[in-house]
Amino acid sequence: MRVLGIETSCDETGIALYDTERGLLADALYSQVPVHAEYGGVVPELASRDHIRKTLPLVEQVLSEAGIPKSDLDAIAYTAGPGLVGALMVGATLARSMAFGLGIPSLGVHHMEGHLLAPLLAEDPPEYPFIALLVSGGHSQLVRVDGLGRYALLGESLDDAAGEAFDKTAKLLGLPYPGGPQVAALAEKGDPARFTFPRPMVKHPGLDMSFSGLKTHTLTTVKACREESGLTDQDRADIAWAFQQAVVDTLVIKCRRALVQEGLKTLVMAGGVSANSLLRHDLERKLQPDGVSVHYPSLRLCTDNGAMIAYAGALRLAAGQRDPQDAEVRARWPMTELSPPEAA
Ligand code: KG4
Ligand code: ZN
Repeated sequence: MRVLGIETSCDETGIALYDTERGLLADALYSQVPVHAEYGGVVPELASRDHIRKTLPLVEQVLSEAGIPKSDLDAIAYTAGPGLVGALMVGATLARSMAFGLGIPSLGVHHMEGHLLAPLLAEDPPEYPFIALLVSGGHSQLVRVDGLGRYALLGESLDDAAGEAFDKTAKLLGLPYPGGPQVAALAEKGDPARFTFPRPMVKHPGLDMSFSGLKTHTLTTVKACREESGLTDQDRADIAWAFQQAVVDTLVIKCRRALVQEGLKTLVMAGGVSANSLLRHDLERKLQPDGVSVHYPSLRLCTDNGAMIAYAGALRLAAGQRDPQDAEVRARWPMTELSPPEAA
């Protein structure tokens, strides 16, 4: 089954073609970062307009790269939420109209389910059941995954998502949007011995997380440095290091706790923050001695992309799931509302 995937939930237009027998045939990604950079964050209206310009040309590019005519598509999957409503509507409208014109089914996919399943596109995919750490710009969640659509939310951030904390810290340090990779790069020049930031909620039992206190601590440290001698480049790098290490340590502790609680030995991480090399490195180094295998998608598939939507859609479409008559896009859509395809 050949499934075209369309991702337009935020500031990336991602298109891909996935074949359930041959794997990923082609994918293309257009990032709107330069469009939003001068505003320091995503401007929803600009995002929608840019998706309108880019979606169809990218669909044509992917089909031509794969050498597959439109008429050979079996289904179209698109991101139906959560995300920016206007941006989601662009992908959904194109997907549904194309599917209608071609006489093939369409299916709205949950963006976080796409992230969660992306590591299964690897050559050595993890097997169910596993613990998934989903860390993106909008979500920080620990989920027990027993199969497609069989998700139990074990814990989540009570305030800022991990990616959001990275982005806000970047702003405090005068770094451009999107902040995660910028903070990570700056941290490489940081002195590990200079500051120790709090590890939020690690003494608190359970699997929920909180990152807003860490952001306040960063702000206080930035102000103190500024008053002392002006904020130097070394101060900024030292703060980036301390912030990143605190987020990573917190996530490692919570992952270990989730694995022990559920008696599992497989950890899968996904979402934009899973591109962070310190997080990958520390999760492996600290969990492997307990016999835990750690899986993550290739860097390209960590952040938003069309392949994860094509893949998640293909699994559900192949099981017979289709868009309901009243299909809608949703700005908010708790992942716990998902169910396996046979029960859908
Ligand atoms: O999954 P994603 O592309 O979009 C959402 O669904 O939100 O995640 C974007 C988030 C942003 O907050 C970005 O700063 C963060 O992922 N991010 C990183 C890194 N690369 C992206 N955070 C830390 N380190 C990175 N290397
Ligand atoms: Zn995402």
